[in-house]
Amino acid sequence: MPSAAAAAAAAASQSTEPTMSPKEFARRRRQLMRILGKGSVALLPAAPAKIRNRDVEYYYRQDSDFFYLSGFAEPEAVMALVPGRGAGEYLLFCRDRDPERETWDGARAGPDGAVADYDADDAFPISDMDDILPGIIEQCEKVYYNLGMHPEFDQRLIGWVNALRERGGAHTPDEFIALDHQLHDLRLYKSRAELTALRRAARIAVGAHRRGMALCRPGMHEYEIEAEFVHEFRSRGARLSYLPIVGSGPNSCTLHYHANNRQLEDGDLLLVDAGCEYDYYASDITRTYPVNGRFTAEQRIIYDIVLEAQEAALAQIAPGKHWNDPHVAAVRAITRGLRDAGLLKGNLRTLIRERAYRPFFMHRTGHWLGMDVHDVGDYKVSDHWRLLEPGMVLTVEPGIYIAPGTRKVPKRWWGIGVRIEDDVAVTRDGHELLTRGLPRTASEVEAVVGSAAH
Ligand code: GLY
Ligand code: MN
Ligand code: MN
Repeated sequence: MPSAAAAAAAAASQSTEPTMSPKEFARRRRQLMRILGKGSVALLPAAPAKIRNRDVEYYYRQDSDFFYLSGFAEPEAVMALVPGRGAGEYLLFCRDRDPERETWDGARAGPDGAVADYDADDAFPISDMDDILPGIIEQCEKVYYNLGMHPEFDQRLIGWVNALRERGGAHTPDEFIALDHQLHDLRLYKSRAELTALRRAARIAVGAHRRGMALCRPGMHEYEIEAEFVHEFRSRGARLSYLPIVGSGPNSCTLHYHANNRQLEDGDLLLVDAGCEYDYYASDITRTYPVNGRFTAEQRIIYDIVLEAQEAALAQIAPGKHWNDPHVAAVRAITRGLRDAGLLKGNLRTLIRERAYRPFFMHRTGHWLGMDVHDVGDYKVSDHWRLLEPGMVLTVEPGIYIAPGTRKVPKRWWGIGVRIEDDVAVTRDGHELLTRGLPRTASEVEAVVGSAAH
């Protein structure tokens, strides 16, 4: 976007904290190019605009890899990074300015704006790509590109390479290499600016969960709770980072429940998994609470087991621990809790070994978090669980789900689904809870549920 529009947008967001600076994007490109080395080119297409139906598009959201390296939010663009290229290492192909189209769709940077406002060394109309990119590819030994993600661009790239081959005398690259590995490893380690962005996304979602919890009362519908999240997110310049799950009663046991249309009944639990994205960084939080403000005895037992599992997992988050350590701790706490409650029978070690907890706890304890909710980065390195290091950000989200009809489980436990999910950054001496300030223990939760109900 041209700089005047960028300044206006920044003012309109009423943000007191800086957004990601051009220096941050330049640093990321430098880092990646250092890793890729001379003689290579990295190609990244922008996310395509997607049609919802006929003339209506989905809300446009730039591809995370593309945005991570450019800060450029327009569709129909391609970036090329060519480390060591004397005539410019960072090339951006984008839509030309077009006053008539801009009347409909809003301002475009155009190639001049791409250079002036986005630090491209050189920029061209996207329609010139066929004339320029083959010549650049011809001079490279390695092409870094994620095949299979953008079918149209795949075809174009293959076409350019075939044309070079057929021309005779032209050089073609020796290797085509997926860009994921190197780029996603960079994205796994969050910079200071990224941690600031993640803290902000977490803070906004904490506020939204407090609001939903405080307004909750029997008789409301799940979508009314969802509406409070949308209201809070949009009022603070954020958007949903994924489809929210607002599941009451039996719906709390459906992991990817999105209908959000049931009426909350006295005695139900409500599981709300909702987070936001602010400036391309996401939060991901789940809270579970009784809609009438008081856990039943069975709900409280299950809640306390999940809380204990989360505490045990959190205690395993520090540099030097392995990715899987929090999960192992959560599995142990959940299996022991279910056994003590009489829902599993047998020796603890055997129950864990035989994964007896799986019908109740069927997902993992967390995932990387960043620009994507399920963020990029390998969980294993050479077949071993990855060591946690400062700057990595993850969720911690154990849960227990006892669906109605679960065999060998007395009916009084049916329809109890509990998950507690928080966002955590690994620090030098342990971890930082990004989602702090949100009620987590059963009594903290009971004190807030319904406190603002009207
Ligand atoms: N909200 C998606 C997840 O918790 O992984
Ligand atoms: Mn999650
Ligand atoms: Mn979640």
